[in-house]
Amino acid sequence: MVIARRGISVLENLRSTIQFRELTLDRTGAKLDRAANIDDLRAMAKRRLPGGVFDYIDGGAEDEKSLSRNTTDFDRWSFRPRVLRDMTELDTSVELLGKRIPHPLVLSPTGFSRIADSQGELAVARSAQRMGLPYSLSSMATRSIEEVAAVSDGSKWFQVYVWKDRGIVKEMVGRAQGAGYDAICITVDFATLGRRERDVRRGFTLPPKIGLDTIVDGLLHPRWTLDFVQSEPILFANVSGTGGKDGTDAVGLADYVKNQLDPSLSWDDIEWFRSIWDGPIVIKGVQDVADVDVAAKLGIEAVALSNHGGRQLDDAPSPIELVPEAVEVAAGRTQILCDGGVRRGADIVKALCLGATACMVGRAYLYGLGAAGERGVDKALGFLTSEVERTMALVGANAVGELGPDYLTTR
Ligand code: GLV
Repeated sequence: MVIARRGISVLENLRSTIQFRELTLDRTGAKLDRAANIDDLRAMAKRRLPGGVFDYIDGGAEDEKSLSRNTTDFDRWSFRPRVLRDMTELDTSVELLGKRIPHPLVLSPTGFSRIADSQGELAVARSAQRMGLPYSLSSMATRSIEEVAAVSDGSKWFQVYVWKDRGIVKEMVGRAQGAGYDAICITVDFATLGRRERDVRRGFTLPPKIGLDTIVDGLLHPRWTLDFVQSEPILFANVSGTGGKDGTDAVGLADYVKNQLDPSLSWDDIEWFRSIWDGPIVIKGVQDVADVDVAAKLGIEAVALSNHGGRQLDDAPSPIELVPEAVEVAAGRTQILCDGGVRRGADIVKALCLGATACMVGRAYLYGLGAAGERGVDKALGFLTSEVERTMALVGANAVGELGPDYLTTR
């Protein structure tokens, strides 16, 4: 009897502690619920996307030294937290290009976002707007300036590559102005394409071309393939109809960049941009503090320290390693953004402690897009922003203005 009663109480105990997850037909939602961080979204994206697409997003140039150091260099610093500070109030907002944004985070431009999910840039722009964060639309985007403006009246930047045919650039910048974009972001590290050797090995083209190996890859990733074949063809939506090659034929990116983009781009062109754009200019791709000084002298409103996510020059300095000196050289004349390697809110807080105004992320949200479309982007931005909040609370800073080098120690 005693044994039987004990058996019943064990059962009752078990019933009160075991909780089965609700059964759901939404498998993606269930997987997203179990994702805990950006790396988990990357793993989901790796499973959902064909290998060539995943590697195009995930990979870097040559030996991928820039790519990996962009992330690991955040570990050069660890925190020196303060305790017993009243943390009931927490303000993560910053002022960037004259506007207050709720978190120190900007979505970097990423070309061809529709290869990750058919909604592509529209999904990302909507998600950014919900979080109140600026979204930069690439000039090599697969949704147009106007399509993106139609789904988001949030803060938007237009990223500019400089075509040899300056008419194309002028026309795009004019359209961005007309559609209410807040800033242009000129990418200055792209006149020659870095050699992404994963793409070379896979023979990857944009848009992905359908050959035997892609068919096999596609069959192994049916959800992506169904989405891809059911949606309208991918093309460079902003160049379409302007006389520039619009990507309707599969292109090798290296040839495209060589044939279409202007290698003569120089600081002298900035004046021209001022004549065609009325608003703030961000220069993205600065990799030495001497260029921070040049940009500041030219009155550039913000400089994005960036090595293009490790996709261009290999063995380049990591953006986070440049931040302290860049901030010193800028001396308040231009705002400093740190673009590259951010996988955690703690990375963002470190960059801010070193004096950056905000960080930019590209892959982090593309992993979300590749994992689960728009819901995945929401998840990625949710991770990063909540991690910023948690890190600030744990180091004892109530507001971004309080962050400084005192909160860090070098390893
Ligand atoms: C485009 O910007 C790329 O890095 O592939």
